[in-house]
Formats: sequence, C-alpha cells, structure tokens
Amino acid sequence: MFSEATLARFAREVAKYPAEQKQSAVMACLSIAQQEQGWVSPEAEKAIADYLGMAPIAVREVTTFYNMYNQRPVGQFKLNVCTNLPCQLRDGQKALEKLCKELGIEDGGTTPDGVFTVQKCECLGACADAPVMLVNDRQMLSYMSDDRLKELVKVLRASAKPAAAAAKKN
Ligand code: FES
Repeated sequence: MFSEATLARFAREVAKYPAEQKQSAVMACLSIAQQEQGWVSPEAEKAIADYLGMAPIAVREVTTFYNMYNQRPVGQFKLNVCTNLPCQLRDGQKALEKLCKELGIEDGGTTPDGVFTVQKCECLGACADAPVMLVNDRQMLSYMSDDRLKELVKVLRASAKPAAAAAKKN
C-alpha cells in the first residue's frame, strides 16, 4: 500500500509519542499518505488504521472532519475558497462562483485536464482579508478580487505540470 519511504516517515511520526499512544500520529500519517498518493483512499485509511492499531472508523472520522484531507482524487491545484459568514459578507461566495465560472466547473469539481479542483471551505482565520482562499492546503491568498482570481488561474495554469493533463486523458 505504501512505499518504504512513506513507512519510514510514518515511523518517524509514531516515534514522537509514547508507544501506547501511537494513534496520536494519525493526522501526520494521513497527511503523508496524501502527499504520496494525492488523496486518502479507503484502502489508505484502512492501512493506517492497521499500522496504528486503531479502528478504521476512528481514522475515517479524522479524514472526514478536516477539510485538508482529500476524500477523492483532486486536481494538481486544489483551490479552497472560504464561504463562511464573515467572508460571505465580503464577497466570499462571489469569489467562489467567479472561480468556478472561470474554470467551467461546479463547486467541488475538477477541470477535465486535471489541473484545478475548486471547493468551498470553512473559516480560514483571516476574515478581515476576505475574500480569502487556500491553494493546496498551504498557501493563503487574501483580497481575491475578480482580477486577482483571473491572474491566479493564469499563473497556476502556466505552471501546471504536463503530467496532470496527460494523466486525465488516459
Ligand atoms: S470567515 Fe472566511 S476567513 Fe473567516
């Protein structure tokens, strides 16, 4: 299920906790699995549950609670736009709709070339900077006006790996 390198990374995370509390490494293991496979499949959840001595449902609860875990394959760039109330009051929903329109997909969808996935998300803790969004769960972007969204799509598309497009065609 996992590469040797991934298992070594799991072991490093588990070593940070007392042996009887190795389940504490579940979030780290899920993140590592996602880095390797692009998403957290049910098989990966089960393998992590076995590895950590947890019930599979307990791992599933973690995967489904946090936005950052992809429960299905996503595009090379996952774009999360905050649509919680403070952002709603400052064009968060409009930004989501603009992005979806720009890419020709629905909220939660992935472009046919496999480059972009767009999803709404919960508060990112930067309400004063609305509209705000996250790129690939790591990079926060603020004040996403229509022009900035357009520019973002242009820049990301230009930097997309050809593999993403090729993979989707097969
Ligand atoms: S409500 Fe959008 S960042 Fe807080």
